[in-house]
Amino acid sequence: MASVSAQTDLRQAINAISDVIQNRPLPLREFDQIYMKAGDMVLQTMIIAQRFAKRDLVFIGDGDSISLCLAYAMHRGVIEEGPNKILVLDFDERMVNAIERFADKERISDKISARLYNCIDPLPDDLLGEFSAFYTNPPWGASNLGESVNVFAERGMEACGPDAVGVVVIADDPNVDWSKRVLFEVQKFAQEQQFFVQEMQPMLHAYHLDDAPDLKSCNLFFRSHPDRKITTRSYELHGKRLESFYGRNQPLRVKYVREKVRVDYGKAPSETYVLDPLEGANGS
Ligand SMILES: C[S@@+](CC[C@H](N)C(=O)[O-])C[C@H]1O[C@@H](n2cnc3c(N)ncnc32)[C@H](O)[C@@H]1O
Repeated sequence: MASVSAQTDLRQAINAISDVIQNRPLPLREFDQIYMKAGDMVLQTMIIAQRFAKRDLVFIGDGDSISLCLAYAMHRGVIEEGPNKILVLDFDERMVNAIERFADKERISDKISARLYNCIDPLPDDLLGEFSAFYTNPPWGASNLGESVNVFAERGMEACGPDAVGVVVIADDPNVDWSKRVLFEVQKFAQEQQFFVQEMQPMLHAYHLDDAPDLKSCNLFFRSHPDRKITTRSYELHGKRLESFYGRNQPLRVKYVREKVRVDYGKAPSETYVLDPLEGANGS
């Protein structure tokens, strides 16, 4: 049986991740926002904290909020080591604002920040080569042979300088042929970008995915070739690379998802419920 202190540690870890989950905006399925399950987020936070300890880490999209789990778990003393600084790039302003609000409230803005960015656009000059690690859990590229995965991974690689590492979190199921094709294409693409596979942790995470509840994802870790040329100019993406980006016949057409400001942020929207008064309580 686990010792008392191990149980306490686990409870603290789950409670920290639970605070982050509570902060996440509701997912938009049309943009492949499909959230990782809580237990796997705890495990993923531990793995990434250790793998990317002391590195400057950029996230290309992060609806799951693993970025915030890392920063917050370090702050709460749940994990002892982790990345130095974290930047999240996402085209959904709700994600960006949720991270910034949480960081501000918990006073961890020195550790984590977020910025609005669509990966169709060139990576801003001030980010090129500035990081030593990247993390992406992209649209999984089932209908475009992994091209959407490659687009996200490419932006992460562009953001990294020498001796870089990165992780791509994508579908992995030996019974699902498209996931095997995508895994193959992504590894090929990474090699063209002068990154090699360092390790693969297969079938690791589960998701809140109604139509495929058993589909798992893996951690595919990459490391840069020692002679890799660092990117000094980034380009806009177009044409074929944007087709079926979020699924069959669902190209990338949206620049940003904008947040509608609500005064009752964090509370259940009043349109989602009605109150039946107790008998006699409404003055009748
Ligand atoms: C595509 S989802 C993948 C599933 C992942 N489990 C999640 O829900 O976060 C990952 C993140 O990428 C963001 N994203 C989607 N399209 C994007 C784009 N064109 N540029 C930048 N971020 C994007 C989403 O807002 C989301 O936060």
